[in-house]
Amino acid sequence: MRIFVTGATGAIGRHAVPALLDAGHAVTALARTPGKAAALQRRGATPVTVSLFDRQALASAFAGHEAVVNLATAIPPMSRFMSTRAMRENHRVRALGSAAVVDAALDAGVVRVLQESVCMVYRDQADRWIDEESPVDRYPLTRGNFAAESNAHRFTKEGGAAVVLRFGWFYGPGAAHSEQMYGLARRHVGLVLGRPDGYVSSIHMTDAATAVVAALEAPPGTYNVVDDEPLTKREFADAVARAAGARPWVCVPGRAANLFGDRLTSLTRSLRVANVRLRAATGWAPRHPSAREGWLATAAALTP
Ligand SMILES: NC(=O)c1ccc[n+]([C@@H]2O[C@H](COP(=O)([O-])OP(=O)(O)OC[C@H]3O[C@@H](n4cnc5c(N)ncnc54)[C@H](OP(=O)(O)O)[C@@H]3O)[C@@H](O)[C@H]2O)c1
Repeated sequence: MRIFVTGATGAIGRHAVPALLDAGHAVTALARTPGKAAALQRRGATPVTVSLFDRQALASAFAGHEAVVNLATAIPPMSRFMSTRAMRENHRVRALGSAAVVDAALDAGVVRVLQESVCMVYRDQADRWIDEESPVDRYPLTRGNFAAESNAHRFTKEGGAAVVLRFGWFYGPGAAHSEQMYGLARRHVGLVLGRPDGYVSSIHMTDAATAVVAALEAPPGTYNVVDDEPLTKREFADAVARAAGARPWVCVPGRAANLFGDRLTSLTRSLRVANVRLRAATGWAPRHPSAREGWLATAAALTP
């Protein structure tokens, strides 16, 4: 397939592009700087510089492609995660960018769109399993996600096939926040956001990338992209600590993180998310069934 990827230079994109190429697809990718264009070219993709918000230019760039994979986001680093201003750009990219992508894909005769979203849109369900039909929660941070999801569904309504991928918490090489978490673990500090017995549903970056490849064959709809066994936040911190080879002397901020309310709720809520639908629809399976195995692989890749 000829595939156009936006966000190809980001955390997930840097893993998804090689996975798509390895699967035999031809990849064109949006590059915003000459340096990033050169890096994409070295990886085997064809770089194109075009604005994510310019529908006409995007439609020209999409012409001749069967699929568009929209992975563009602008999530601020952990240090600015709670800044409303920093999140504004993420909202713009997810809401307006995805609208332009869908309009341009329709104009260009693209048949399939994959749209990035996150599992953090689900309501806290304590220890109950969450599937794609579970209730969602429209708190302010998720406005961009829901806008992007509804743009994708509009693509399906207008005759295309759109797949929304609700990714769990990314971790692994290239996911900045998880590399910071690993650095803290090596200094004997565990990161637990919210109740230690609450669940975190995670996905190793390389498994997220193979899910993108698999989703090219999935029927239109919404799919969770998480590993097989969500861990409690305490277990997740233990998995990082074991991989780092350093017992945690302290775990922070724990329940105190709940004091930040809506601004941190995407990370403090308990989300025990199931991947059954994507596995059944495509045969995809994560190579790392849980963060226990995934963090060991991550440590091996991160430690010089
Ligand atoms: N499910 C999750 O846990 C989840 C989901 C998303 C992100 N994250 C994490 O949050 C951190 C930041 O991730 P991120 O994906 O936002 O940033 P990122 O890794 O820098 O990737 C964002 C991608 O979108 C592109 N992009 C951003 N603004 C754009 C614009 N205006 N026009 C066109 N393309 C644009 C970026 O291009 P440039 O390279 O040119 O900037 C990049 O390719 C990472 O550590 C990531 O792991 C986590």
